Amino acid sequence: MKFYFKLLIPILIFKIINCQSCALGSYFSNNNCYLCPNGYYCPSGATKPIACPLGTFSYSSGGISECKPCSLGYYANNVASTGCRACPDGYQCCDPKKDPTPCPLGTYSSSNGGISECIPCYLGYYTNKTASTSCRACPDGYQCCDPKSAPSPCPVGTYSISTGGIAQCTQCYLGYYADTLARTSCRACPDGYQCCDPRISPTPCPLGTYSYSSGGISECKSCGNGYYTDTLASTGCKYCPNGNSCQSPVNAQQCSPVENLADSCTRNINAEKDQLKCTQSNSIKDLDYLTSVGDCEFYQELENEKKCGTNGYLSRYGFKYCKKFGENIDSFNKEGQKWVDGVRMCLMKKLLNSDISNCNELESFAFDTHVDCYLNPGHGAKSMCELLQMQNFIGLWNVYDFKDFLSINAIKQVVSVMSNCGSQLISNGINSVNNNFNSLLDSLNLLTDS
Ligand SMILES: *[C@@H]1O[C@H](CO)[C@@H](O)[C@H](O)[C@H]1NC(C)=O
Repeated sequence: MKFYFKLLIPILIFKIINCQSCALGSYFSNNNCYLCPNGYYCPSGATKPIACPLGTFSYSSGGISECKPCSLGYYANNVASTGCRACPDGYQCCDPKKDPTPCPLGTYSSSNGGISECIPCYLGYYTNKTASTSCRACPDGYQCCDPKSAPSPCPVGTYSISTGGIAQCTQCYLGYYADTLARTSCRACPDGYQCCDPRISPTPCPLGTYSYSSGGISECKSCGNGYYTDTLASTGCKYCPNGNSCQSPVNAQQCSPVENLADSCTRNINAEKDQLKCTQSNSIKDLDYLTSVGDCEFYQELENEKKCGTNGYLSRYGFKYCKKFGENIDSFNKEGQKWVDGVRMCLMKKLLNSDISNCNELESFAFDTHVDCYLNPGHGAKSMCELLQMQNFIGLWNVYDFKDFLSINAIKQVVSVMSNCGSQLISNGINSVNNNFNSLLDSLNLLTDS
């Protein structure tokens, strides 16, 4: 009996304890319950603590039945962790089980708490080292097409200046030049000189020509019949000695104006412009960005979204004319070029802000925006009416493809613009304007009659 009793008590105690088990968060060992230690967890019935796996932790003064996962941006790269560490600045912790990884080139991270992901540099900013805690603004005179690389100096013929970052250098306006790298501005071509090519220093006006302007000068003007110059770099011409002709042998050469001066100004501005274009990474090549710089690719990207087809406004008209204006930018004067840039951004902005998915509606909406944008392009550009008074006809003429005016929407657009500034133009009595205006009306009449 005594022996039996002695044997029974421990068995009973064991049984009772074992049946009731230890409290949750404890483990049973050596006939005792123990609180689970920090860094471990003890599920019910545990006989020993189990280490918290990677990416989790446990910490408690009471029992611990399970480990908690690290919060976003924190990590635990050891088992049995009693806490997670905050991902440090310059690093990202995509996987809480692993060591932080340094931010790749072109990205940065900076935070008071943990960091789950590095952030790409804003457009015009860069970082050319890994583990960056910030991106640097591209300095004036430079461009940062690629946020992963050091800034590159603006090529000749371009400049950059900004209060924030700079993604791309800007082409000098016609008649201005930048003949060294890394310029923060272009210089105006001085009187008596011409700047056909914005990449090279001004060249003196040849004999028989002159230049004089309050802004930049892209081309010397011919003296015309009855006038001559006897020096290079003239700012004006003199009367020929014998009335209105200069046939005397002495002056013959001086008085024959240089023909086709423009031919000596072979420009390649557009090719240059294309070369300048940064290869933007996909993340920043969005519609907002394309709109902000008036990039014609805007129309292709939008077409990808709207899918109006090759006959839709975006491909057949928007993209086409955006390109054509670019190809003929040399035929516009300085204000005309500003106008082209302004109109591009204006048109894109209006399309971007509209939320039209029906392709026909989109087309008439788009043509209506042409009228608005031609008359009020914004971005520091003058209205089309003022532009026409400044003899930018050649530019506009080169751009337009008259067969496109067969579209009723396109005709409406032109008539609407013209009637907005028609009377104003005519009252100014500028002959070339009248002539061109009338010939446009004639063309329109022809088209509408047929
Ligand atoms: C990063 O760019 C700076 C100029 O901002 C340059 O001095 C440095 O050498 C570049 N570092 C690397 C690793 O390319």
